[in-house]
Amino acid sequence: MRLNQFIIVCLCCLFMANTASANVIPEMVEGFQAQGASVGDADAGEALWKKKFMVEGKARSCQSCHTLDLTKAGSHIRTGKIIEPMAPSVTLTRFSEVKKVHKWFRRNCKWVLSRECSIQEKVDILLFLQKQ
Ligand code: HEC
Repeated sequence: MRLNQFIIVCLCCLFMANTASANVIPEMVEGFQAQGASVGDADAGEALWKKKFMVEGKARSCQSCHTLDLTKAGSHIRTGKIIEPMAPSVTLTRFSEVKKVHKWFRRNCKWVLSRECSIQEKVDILLFLQKQ
């Protein structure tokens, strides 16, 4: 293969890898803002991420499964299944599907907060996660 052909192949691969793992956080934050959420606050998101909620006599938080260090792998508190690091800087495929993010917000907020998260809470958490 000639050098210029090789470069073109490399560029194509890079482009495809990039679109496959496109981060949907900016798009989702914009969507929530269009529904009435404010600009948002990553610090508030961090506080909520770390906050402990008492459920059935036990403390639950987002960190129960995703661990204290977002750059490290977590493990599911009930099944023990390994959860890839949440930090998009480490797990490049993080937050690449709007449907997946909605699904896990619904499920995890219900488990931790005993209710769904508000759109404002989701914006704050997404802004916090985006920085990791
Ligand atoms: C009981 C364990 C558990 C708790 C507690 C938990 N999560 Fe998760 N979360 C998971 C699992 C399992 C996945 C899906 C596996 C994966 O994406 O690696 C996930 C995925 C996600 C995703 C999707 C990530 C992506 O790449 O699209 C988001 C967003 C998320 N969680 C947010 C939260 C928030 C916010 C909290 C706290 C309110 C929380 N999680 C608490 C287990 C948990």
